[in-house]
Amino acid sequence: MRIGIPMESGPAETRVAATPKTVAQLIKLGYEVVVVEGAGAKASYPDSEYAAQGAQIVGRAVAWAADVVCKINPPISAEIAAMSEGATLIALVAAPRSPELLKELAAQGLTVLAMDSVPRISRAQSMDVLSSMANIGGYRAVIEAAHEFGSFFTGQVTAAGKVPPAHVFVSGAGVAGLAAIGTAHSLGAVVHATDIRPEVAEQVESMGADFVAVKVAEQQVSTDGYAKEASAAYAQAAEAMYAEQAKVSDIIITTALIPGKPAPRLLTEEMVATMKPGSVIVDMAAGAGGNVAGSAPDKVVVTSNGVKIIGYTDLPTRLPTQASQLYGTNVVNLMKLVTPAKDGVMVLDMNDVVQRSMAVVSDGEVTWPPPPVAVTAAPPAAAQPVRPAKAEPKKRDPRVTWAVMAVCAVALMLLFWVSPEGLLGHFLVFALAVVIGYYVIGNVNHSLHTPLMSVTNAISGIIIVGALVGLQSASVGVLVAVLSVIGILLASINIFGGFTVTQRMLAMFRKA
Ligand code: NAI
Repeated sequence: MRIGIPMESGPAETRVAATPKTVAQLIKLGYEVVVVEGAGAKASYPDSEYAAQGAQIVGRAVAWAADVVCKINPPISAEIAAMSEGATLIALVAAPRSPELLKELAAQGLTVLAMDSVPRISRAQSMDVLSSMANIGGYRAVIEAAHEFGSFFTGQVTAAGKVPPAHVFVSGAGVAGLAAIGTAHSLGAVVHATDIRPEVAEQVESMGADFVAVKVAEQQVSTDGYAKEASAAYAQAAEAMYAEQAKVSDIIITTALIPGKPAPRLLTEEMVATMKPGSVIVDMAAGAGGNVAGSAPDKVVVTSNGVKIIGYTDLPTRLPTQASQLYGTNVVNLMKLVTPAKDGVMVLDMNDVVQRSMAVVSDGEVTWPPPPVAVTAAPPAAAQPVRPAKAEPKKRDPRVTWAVMAVCAVALMLLFWVSPEGLLGHFLVFALAVVIGYYVIGNVNHSLHTPLMSVTNAISGIIIVGALVGLQSASVGVLVAVLSVIGILLASINIFGGFTVTQRMLAMFRKA
């Protein structure tokens, strides 16, 4: 089958749906790939590089007539009309907001796989364009903020004086939020972040920020990887927290999103008015109504108190080379899924939850919405079964304990009485070794026991030496010989096994 890569028609679009690298991967799957002349130019991918990887450089009509057309933005009517009946379109479609477009695509007899309808399940992560673009968006949001901000992000001590680090606050710790946290942290800022889903606190901390919780009894639990709308109690408690953060933050990046709903309003005009002059806000949700009062899509608004509110809605297109590569890789991963025989023939399996969710139009029929997919990011706590209380262990009569100890002591005395000279000394050393060994090992953290065990070769070595000496002695009996051989065998297993375990553990920490 032939895959066509057209040029994106929007004047502001800089990305392309395939790069020379992903073209090579598509060809490896058995497809023929045609790329429209100049399609990758704005993303720094010249035609010559596509051709070098085996793509044919063609005119617009040839690419649109391909069996599978792969692009980024939803197609315009002229583009849909240029497609052949029975062909497949792979693109962002915004299905929930585009019923008319779906009808038009169906009328052309197409099958449409929407790259923005990938369910948020771990198996589909490699195809999740919304995540890969949000990741780029989060990164770029910090870069845009740094560009507008008049100071360093990192704190410095210079000959001219001390520079405090910038305080960055990120609202919404989804894909974009976590990328923003990581970027701001790596630039040296002090980062705080919040989210309506408290289960993300650990991820926030692992990216280098402090989690700011909204103090309210309500706990959101996500069943599909996305958030639900906040209750009135949460909104009230959150308002107090945002008011507090606005006063102390130099930069605020808002990424809060509830799918299918207008963006939740998080920062009011009054809160923005309390921010320091020169502070910067990046409202990533500006295109969906905005998280911040006063933000405007694709504009930088400067408030009367000198706060800049950035509302760019094209953050991924501001990194076109990387964005095209990630989009292209998402497409390759989808093509791997729908090309099971790697023979250049696309086979759709509507019983597969990922393919079913993405197929918004199938053979000329609108098949959106798909059946819901439940993915539990944090499963609701199941009611704990009531365990019967353990029966109190019966207390042993102390007199029995004393009697047992007395019998043992007498038995030991008798043993030493009849045993050869020198045994008492050896026994004392043995008993001390057991006691000291018990306390030394007992005080080591359990997770460190394996490395500890793997380096007990010295003890095993002594056992082998002792066994060899025993075997050498002329008067050695059969029993001693057998015990010595068993001792050598076991100690050798410990030594060589120890080395193997140590090597494995070191390999775990080695960078690939
Ligand atoms: P996501 O769904 O992964 O993350 C959104 C986060 O917001 C979730 O963690 C959610 O729990 C949280 N949230 C929802 N309501 C909240 C509230 N009231 N308070 C605090 N947190 C709340 O979404 P993703 O992919 O990270 O995208 C975030 C936003 O960025 C979306 O609005 C998306 O459209 C936008 N975006 C904008 C771009 C641009 O160029 N401006 C580029 C890419 C994404």
